[in-house]
Amino acid sequence: MRIGLVGVGRIGAFHAATLKGLPAVDQVVVADADPSRAEVVAKDLGIAFAPDVPALLASGLDGLVIAAATSAHAELIAAGVSAGVPTFCEKPVALDLAETEQVLALVEASSVPVHIGFQRRFDAGYQAARSAVESGELGFVHHIRANTNDAAPPHREYIPQSGGFFRDCTVHDFDIVRYVTGREVVSVYATGANRGEAFFGEYGDVDSAAALLTLDDNTFVAVSGTRYNGAGHDVRMELHGSLGSLAVGLDAHTALRSAERDVSFPDGRPHMTFMDRFQPAYVAELTAFTEVAAGTREVPCTVRDALAAFRIADACELSRRENRIVTL
Ligand SMILES: NC(=O)c1ccc[n+]([C@@H]2O[C@H](COP(=O)([O-])OP(=O)(O)OC[C@H]3O[C@@H](n4cnc5c(N)ncnc54)[C@H](O)[C@@H]3O)[C@@H](O)[C@H]2O)c1
Repeated sequence: MRIGLVGVGRIGAFHAATLKGLPAVDQVVVADADPSRAEVVAKDLGIAFAPDVPALLASGLDGLVIAAATSAHAELIAAGVSAGVPTFCEKPVALDLAETEQVLALVEASSVPVHIGFQRRFDAGYQAARSAVESGELGFVHHIRANTNDAAPPHREYIPQSGGFFRDCTVHDFDIVRYVTGREVVSVYATGANRGEAFFGEYGDVDSAAALLTLDDNTFVAVSGTRYNGAGHDVRMELHGSLGSLAVGLDAHTALRSAERDVSFPDGRPHMTFMDRFQPAYVAELTAFTEVAAGTREVPCTVRDALAAFRIADACELSRRENRIVTL
């Protein structure tokens, strides 16, 4: 199978290396808006590169992986779909709701499969939490806590092309809350602040935020996140129910230390990046995409799923800006 990948930044270069190691993939070809960057990554990994996206698409692909900046996703998905190439695209689908809806209409009018990259759906911990909710072993779940704490902020240029903190970062929590609980969000209250580099504020964004979501069965979900978590990349979920509680992401590598005496757990090297924390999930996710591209598997995370998570992010952004509860 020959896979093309567009956008070789932080996650794109990592995905290219993962794809190269998959048994179903014979060839990986990369392209980037900056062709010299594609050339460097291709040389590093011993893979091919194309000078631009049209040349990449014309080179005969079995699948296209989009890991370019979010501002380019909608156009690149449309290019993949019109070329008839099964497409994987990193989250989120677009910078705003209207464009996300346009992509959904385009994809649903075609027969080309499009898989959106919410890798937490492939993480063993979140999958176990979903099974525990489904089986009823936690009883009724009354509270969930979900967090996405990045160790260090992305580069300045990333921010205006990202959609903002809720659409870029906590959108992962919004997707995984839906996936784990099978419930929909009915209202949000969100807030945020900028306490790090001034450029977040210059783009109207925040570097730390919190949101309280209410689900359609009255489960309360507290979501929090930051770009400045010095202890490491800390992504977890806690579920508390009438019969039991469960924590996702609490292991020896959790970027947290206990304030209690004589407690050394977690005692492993903390995860510092999303690549450390989710490496097996990214492998499982891209393996699933090769199965989608081969026609042996249904799309595991659709544009419709991504739209649902994006609506929650959009509601949080509105709530933060207007300092009020927003209903969905
Ligand atoms: N799932 C995850 O865990 C995860 C983690 C990080 C980033 N992401 C997503 O991946 C995407 C990329 O993030 P990143 O951190 O790698 O960004 P980045 O800024 O490091 O890299 C983006 C790359 O895209 C290229 N690019 C921009 N516009 C392009 C276009 N029109 N055509 C071709 N190439 C183009 C840039 O030149 C750059 O090399 C974002 O959408 C982000 O939301 C997902």
